[in-house]
Amino acid sequence: TASLSFEYAQNTAASIRKQLPSTLCDPQVAIICGSGLGGLADTIHEAPRFEKSYAEIVHVPLSSVPGHEGKLILGQMGPKKLPVVLLVGRVHFYEGYTMDQVTFITRVCRCLGVTTMIVTNAAGGLNPNYNVGDIVVLNDHLNLAGLVGVHPLLGPNADDFGTRFPPMSDAYDLELRRMAHQSWRALSLDEGKRRIHEGVYSFVGGPSYETRAECRMLRLLGADVVGMSTVPEIIVARHSGMRIVAFSLVTNNAILEAGPRGDDPEIRGMDKSQLEEYLSRGRANHEEVLEAGREAAKDMQALVRHMISNFPHE
Ligand code: ADE
Repeated sequence: TASLSFEYAQNTAASIRKQLPSTLCDPQVAIICGSGLGGLADTIHEAPRFEKSYAEIVHVPLSSVPGHEGKLILGQMGPKKLPVVLLVGRVHFYEGYTMDQVTFITRVCRCLGVTTMIVTNAAGGLNPNYNVGDIVVLNDHLNLAGLVGVHPLLGPNADDFGTRFPPMSDAYDLELRRMAHQSWRALSLDEGKRRIHEGVYSFVGGPSYETRAECRMLRLLGADVVGMSTVPEIIVARHSGMRIVAFSLVTNNAILEAGPRGDDPEIRGMDKSQLEEYLSRGRANHEEVLEAGREAAKDMQALVRHMISNFPHE
């Protein structure tokens, strides 16, 4: 229940805090690193540094996806030595975890005193202007699962975290979004091979990737990217009053053309091998997702680090 999740999160936070050097005791920023975006952890190598695998932390569920090792790192970032929590690897709803489990680590962060959450993920591009490797600053979301009742705040409200009916219209912090674009410019990343956009993230349960018809539906609903994470954590973070900035890395392009049985005139008259090539175009696959992640991860990490170096130290 809600009160139990508060108690558990408090317990976990207390057990972590007990092991921390005093310089890391009150982290203000947490960073959830998505698929292949955990390299940020390796940029924190100086003491004070605290690292624990999720397996070593009480109550924290373990991820089962390749490429999503789960660990928590606390360290200092930037010239102001801002204490931060890095979460490398997350658990997903499609693994069979409950929404409470998916969002537990976010609640632990809140109990550790975190007030700003930076979330990254790998996502499929629905906006035809996006290229693989582009970065999208989220400015809104479609919580498809939540609208029909699969929602992380379902059940008795955890009053210790926030109110029963939290607004989500302002979930994506304008000031932090501005800072993201400023950092992008300051780092001259515009001159590189990827672009930055603002867009709407659509949360789907997964684990299968979307069909062509589903891609067209999501696009029609106003989504720019689609993915299987992030929104539950954001809702829980926002419920407890955190400021949020979230980035999607576009790892594949969803196909918006009609399928072989649809009204696509292009496929009439194709022979078998042409048809096979046509059907494999834009087909999402996990290896491709991880590969695009590896390529773009450095820019994404530079962006986050630059933003953090400009954060005020409270
Ligand atoms: N993650 C990466 N690509 C995705 C896609 N096409 N759909 C959902 N989640 C994704």
